[in-house]
Amino acid sequence: MNVTLTNKTNETDRPAGWNIPFIREMAEITQHMWKNGWDERNGGNVSYLLEEEEVAQYIDIHQVIRTIKPAFAVHELAGKYFIVTASGKYFKNVLADPESNLGLLRVSQDGQELEVLWGLKSGANPTSELPTHFMSHIERLKIDPNHRVVMHNHATNVLAMTFIHELDEAKFTKTLWQMCTECVVVFPDGVGIIPWMIPGSNEIGRETAEKMKKYHAVIWPQHGIFGTGTTIDEAFGLIETIEKAAQVYMLVAGHEIKQRITDEQLTTLAEAFGVTPRPGIIGT
Ligand code: 13P
Ligand code: ZN
Repeated sequence: MNVTLTNKTNETDRPAGWNIPFIREMAEITQHMWKNGWDERNGGNVSYLLEEEEVAQYIDIHQVIRTIKPAFAVHELAGKYFIVTASGKYFKNVLADPESNLGLLRVSQDGQELEVLWGLKSGANPTSELPTHFMSHIERLKIDPNHRVVMHNHATNVLAMTFIHELDEAKFTKTLWQMCTECVVVFPDGVGIIPWMIPGSNEIGRETAEKMKKYHAVIWPQHGIFGTGTTIDEAFGLIETIEKAAQVYMLVAGHEIKQRITDEQLTTLAEAFGVTPRPGIIGT
């Protein structure tokens, strides 16, 4: 009997870059985000700081394909490697074609240029939110040398919540903590919020990065969220948890609340899990 098999595990059937762990990780996480409905059209972007050694295992780091001028000089990140999503590209499509939808960049030694080492095929550019990503990396690295990921998307319920909840950071944070028991444990530092601003600008990058000095996550009203972490999983998990809390809020808002997580319970929770909630939120 003749049987024709399509061997899905055969590497030759896989798109370029599939054998590279950090590219596969980016392709898989963008697919998850899209499936969650957080990344309509080209919505959302991700940047992931990589070690030279892990890049050099798979990519010729001496072969610069082309250079791109960033919106501002990034001396603080000179020589650093990032895999980033491309601008205007759909998260839906990254899995099937990482090379067109992602790019591996190295910041030049003088911080004035971005050296493309892989991807950004057919003249694609890095995400338009690169100023926010780079400025956020700079601030988070000052606080945590293990920091690596900045992730942005249009998480539906977070976005919805910014229409009907006060945009005071302490009040917004407390509401989120009250929505799910684990929230205060996952983001004890709360969420930062900036005013509505034009996306893609250096200004929104500066405002966001200023908040990143205090917070792992920053909300852009009527737009979406930025989450950070030491791994893709951590940044994704943070956004996922905030989005879940926002979803519960959107479900219960306008209904009569019969019982809630009390301030005392929040305090006991934090003690039980050994986290320190941002002061000035519980008990106010
Ligand atoms: P990019 O396609 O340039 O990454 O922009 C998407 C986005 O979400 C802008 O805020
Ligand atoms: Zn956006």
